[in-house]
Amino acid sequence: MSIIDKFKKNKDNGKTSDNHYLTGKEIRAISKANMKEMRRLEKAKRRRVPESEFTAEMKDDNNILEIENLHSYFFTDQGVVKAVNGVEFSIPLNSTVGVVGESGCGKSVTSMSVMRLLQGPSGQIVDGSIRFKAIDYKRDENGKFIPIYERDENGEIVREPVLDKKGNPKLDKEGKPMTRPKQRVNADGLGEYETEERVFDIAKMPMHEMYRLRGRQMSMVFQEPMTSLNPVFTIGNQLDEVVLLHVPDATKQYAKKRSIEMLNLVGIAMPERVYSSYPHELSGGMRQRVMIAMALACEPRLIIADEPTTALDVTIQAQVLELFNEIKKKMNGSILLITHDLGVIAEMADYVVVMYAGRIIEKGTASEIFHRPCHPYTQGLQKSKPTMKSSGDKLFNIPGNVPNPVDMPNHCYFRERCSQCIGKCSGDYPEMVEVSPTHFVACHLYAKDD
Ligand SMILES: Nc1ncnc2c1ncn2[C@@H]1O[C@H](COP(=O)(O)OP(=O)(O)OP(=O)(O)O)[C@@H](O)[C@H]1O
Ligand code: SF4
Ligand SMILES: [Mg+2]
Repeated sequence: MSIIDKFKKNKDNGKTSDNHYLTGKEIRAISKANMKEMRRLEKAKRRRVPESEFTAEMKDDNNILEIENLHSYFFTDQGVVKAVNGVEFSIPLNSTVGVVGESGCGKSVTSMSVMRLLQGPSGQIVDGSIRFKAIDYKRDENGKFIPIYERDENGEIVREPVLDKKGNPKLDKEGKPMTRPKQRVNADGLGEYETEERVFDIAKMPMHEMYRLRGRQMSMVFQEPMTSLNPVFTIGNQLDEVVLLHVPDATKQYAKKRSIEMLNLVGIAMPERVYSSYPHELSGGMRQRVMIAMALACEPRLIIADEPTTALDVTIQAQVLELFNEIKKKMNGSILLITHDLGVIAEMADYVVVMYAGRIIEKGTASEIFHRPCHPYTQGLQKSKPTMKSSGDKLFNIPGNVPNPVDMPNHCYFRERCSQCIGKCSGDYPEMVEVSPTHFVACHLYAKDD
């Protein structure tokens, strides 16, 4: 029995005087229980474990990300906020998956969980898997990256002379010139290293291993660029830092070249000038483009964009969305696009996930969700979209509010707001029902046994 259930029981027995406020004693008890759980989870995050504990297999090889039964909670003095409560969806390679839902439904917490950026100790992933297919560097027994060596026509590794600081050949004890295997270099003159495709379970990864993925394999574009960019460093400094941190053997010259290339890619005119500007010298649209350039600097396989256009006006919004589409093609990557704007989703997404109060209530292809929405909430969302036809009419709204996240009911969370409620809706929370091989809905109206 959870601590909340215990308090509910106490309330029912009339042991507490108030139905809405917790007493000091109750808060202390919740706090104590939370502390125990948070300590356990924080310890688990810092543990050193063999790689086998956080590597996994993809269920479907066409996916780049598979989220399964994800539970991310916040341990607060008022109780446990189940911000993400059993979320499951996948992102196929080279596709855009849009996540929609009203404010507070857990969209950002889901994306933060994927990046492992939930603010501890109160925010924690308590259960589930987040499998991500990464191109990881191979390592030797000392944990060092394994270089790719140049080979001659017979397949033999080519050796090169070892030079001292002045550029003269170094000699061994017998006076012979020393040699070493010659590492292959890419077009930018950087040494190449062996890579392999590996699947990591992010939810089980210790925090110190996350640097392998964050920035290099997956990156995030936040809603408000001014709070994500550091006001005291130039754009160039901040872009270079990403490259220097994540590209092995990167030099300052290479970082600058790459940063300017990225500024060009995101459509910034005069990238050299922007490179030496400070964030406050740029417009909102340019700052968002810089954020996208920063996210792209290491050619990630997955870009998570959390409301990337909410702070922008409509023309800039259209340009930034277009930019995302172009980038997806160029980078051969996938995008997880989080927004509460159905218009943005319609424009961008191949698949759509609809969230409500920490759970997925419907998911399918964009066409299924827009043309055949099943869940009463998704239907309501569609109806509440302003259109030219409805000008002058009152805009449709979904009455009521989301239940208290600390004390979710056992029945469908949408019941109190639903106009299509049936007898079964007072029973257990509805299971996900398959409407088509790609379309699923959690609603009793579609239960197969009816
Ligand atoms: N630090 C925190 N402490 C406690 N609860 C939190 C915290 N951060 C988020 N939550 C709760 O988690 C739930 C999900 O929040 P989240 O930020 O994911 O919503 P969202 O869907 O991104 O909303 P929005 O569209 O407004 O960005 C909310 O109920 C929120 O109150
Ligand atoms: S399960 Fe019942 S209450 Fe919930 S959305 Fe479906 S019809 Fe409405
Ligand atoms: Mg959010």
